[in-house]
Amino acid sequence: MKSILFVCLGNICRSPLADGIANKIAREHDLELHIDSAGTSQWHIGEPPCENAVKIAAQNGVDISGLRARTLHRSDPDTFDYVIAMDRQNKKDLESLGYEQVYLIGDYGGFDGADVPDPYFFDGFSGFEKVYTMLDKAVRDFLKKEKLWP
Ligand code: 4NP
Repeated sequence: MKSILFVCLGNICRSPLADGIANKIAREHDLELHIDSAGTSQWHIGEPPCENAVKIAAQNGVDISGLRARTLHRSDPDTFDYVIAMDRQNKKDLESLGYEQVYLIGDYGGFDGADVPDPYFFDGFSGFEKVYTMLDKAVRDFLKKEKLWP
């Protein structure tokens, strides 16, 4: 079984959304995938995803309310086939920790390597809708391009 780790800074907004979206696709299409998410920081360990992330996910039929934030584990590089960063800073941080092959989600879905904007600093809900739409498109494209979704 292939495995995917989505990584952002806090693991309470973007990577839990990517995690939930990928899980939903995997469930709906019977894909055998192990999917998880983590933060490069330790700031929110044990916390559920932020309220707006839970809300936008729920509006799209994705339940991420049971996820809890974690930071990177030493075993992650050996455990996961794909480690996917939400922005270029996350990618840089992972590389400086020794992660050898780090994917950037913005390289998929036609976003030309763009960062997924950090919605934690958004004023209000509309930014979360944009982030959800971007992640949904990029995650689908990633699964197709990497042949994890035949
Ligand atoms: P995330 O968003 O990386 O998408 O989970 C953030 C959440 C919290 C903070 C930064 C980004 N923070 O500074 O606490």
